[in-house]
Amino acid sequence: MPAYAVIGGQWGDEGKGKIIDYLAGSVNAVVRYAGGNNAGHTVVNDKGTFQLHLIPSGICWPGVYGIIGNGVVVNPDVMMGELDMLSSRDIDISRVSISERAHVIMPYHIVQDRLEEEARGSSAIGTTGQGVGPAYVDKVGRMGIRVGDLLDGEDLAPKVERALAFKNALFTKIYCGECLSLDQVMSKCRDWAEMLRPYVQPTEQIVQDLLDQGKSLLLEGAQGTLLDIDHGSYPYVTSSSPSIGGACTGLGLNPQAIAGVLGVFKAYSTRVGSGPMPSELLGQGAEDLREKAHEYGTTTGRARRIGWFDAVAGRYSVLVNGFTGLVLTRLDILDGFPSVKICVGYQVDGKDIDRFPSNTNLLEECQPVYEEMPGWDEPTASATSRSQLPKNAVAYIKRIEELMRCRAQIISTGPRREETILLEPVIV
Ligand code: GDP
Ligand code: IMO
Ligand code: MG
Repeated sequence: MPAYAVIGGQWGDEGKGKIIDYLAGSVNAVVRYAGGNNAGHTVVNDKGTFQLHLIPSGICWPGVYGIIGNGVVVNPDVMMGELDMLSSRDIDISRVSISERAHVIMPYHIVQDRLEEEARGSSAIGTTGQGVGPAYVDKVGRMGIRVGDLLDGEDLAPKVERALAFKNALFTKIYCGECLSLDQVMSKCRDWAEMLRPYVQPTEQIVQDLLDQGKSLLLEGAQGTLLDIDHGSYPYVTSSSPSIGGACTGLGLNPQAIAGVLGVFKAYSTRVGSGPMPSELLGQGAEDLREKAHEYGTTTGRARRIGWFDAVAGRYSVLVNGFTGLVLTRLDILDGFPSVKICVGYQVDGKDIDRFPSNTNLLEECQPVYEEMPGWDEPTASATSRSQLPKNAVAYIKRIEELMRCRAQIISTGPRREETILLEPVIV
């Protein structure tokens, strides 16, 4: 009856979507537990290339359920757009369900996200602008609208009215912006209720029933551990818990059901948005890698910041999640580099910092200490077995395993499903 979590170990975009699509053929359901359409998960398989923001990345496999749990915040327009896209490409969407407890990203959350970012000026977080942060704020502030509320008919209007009165006061009095019309918001809600109704389910029960029937599940992480509201580089984080704790609360899942926690890491580092990134590369080196790797965001198209693999941050991520195995993606991007570097420590004013600091100002000041290793000329791109990997690439993986104190179970050598090396079985 096990569940296996697939979690971003860095700042997001590690290739979770690809790995979930690869593994999902061996499970019965893929379940999203956190985030919203700030996520962009890319899946490339025999059916084509898919950019998924809300629908779980196992959807291309016939018979695999796609469940959106209570911990996710949902923009119903985005969800329906994605379902239409999938349906038009002959993917069966009847297996999708969404929790009645999931919170809705309301039109005013998107306005609020933009206004707050503008007000932050030079300290802007660089959010995706999808209203995700404000939706989580309202959830915790007990004024959120849940998917179940949308279906409640008459009970909905007073809740929306109360929330909108508060938001309109905020928009006009603090931000000198415009009011949103209650009629328009309510009309949107009525449309959404009808659109979502067929998909709304008590998902915690469905998850438990699947487990009771001996079925296995993948828990799909979004974002990454270093963007976690508790464990990330606060305040330059997202507003949810992408790390393993979020999987239990975001699904109503008993932690004993979790048999494995897979940490997905790129073979180097990237970050979108602001905030500290100790191993960041600047200048031509970053530009060359970004172009080679085509490092532009799936959701916003923004250029991703680039850096060498950061084993200090990575080890912290292992600690927070208890990863039982690592996945290293995009190894192929490092093909042809004369040498590759791993950040093995930080220093501030010549003093060693031996762990990932909680203080963001301190993290900003951290200078990377690098270990340099010889690169490899022979390609790893598209390799499907360990024996195809050049010796120096194997040494690079081994060094990362040692530094992270965690074994690599999967190596990804290209975006396509089959461009994958399974070093050890993951779903057992
Ligand atoms: P996610 O948000 O973690 O699912 O990652 P994204 O989909 O936002 O970004 C990862 C990008 O890398 C996507 O364009 C993937 O198709 C691509 N990708 C995943 N694994 C590999 C790999 O091993 N090699 C290469 N070259 N691309 C990969
Ligand atoms: P996936 O699931 C990369 C980043 C944003 C910003 C910060 C806060 O594709 O890995 P938000 O809109 O969440 O309030 O923005 O978090 N961010 C991501 N970066 N991948 C993601 O998701 C991200 N989701 C949010 O760029 O820095
Ligand atoms: Mg992404």
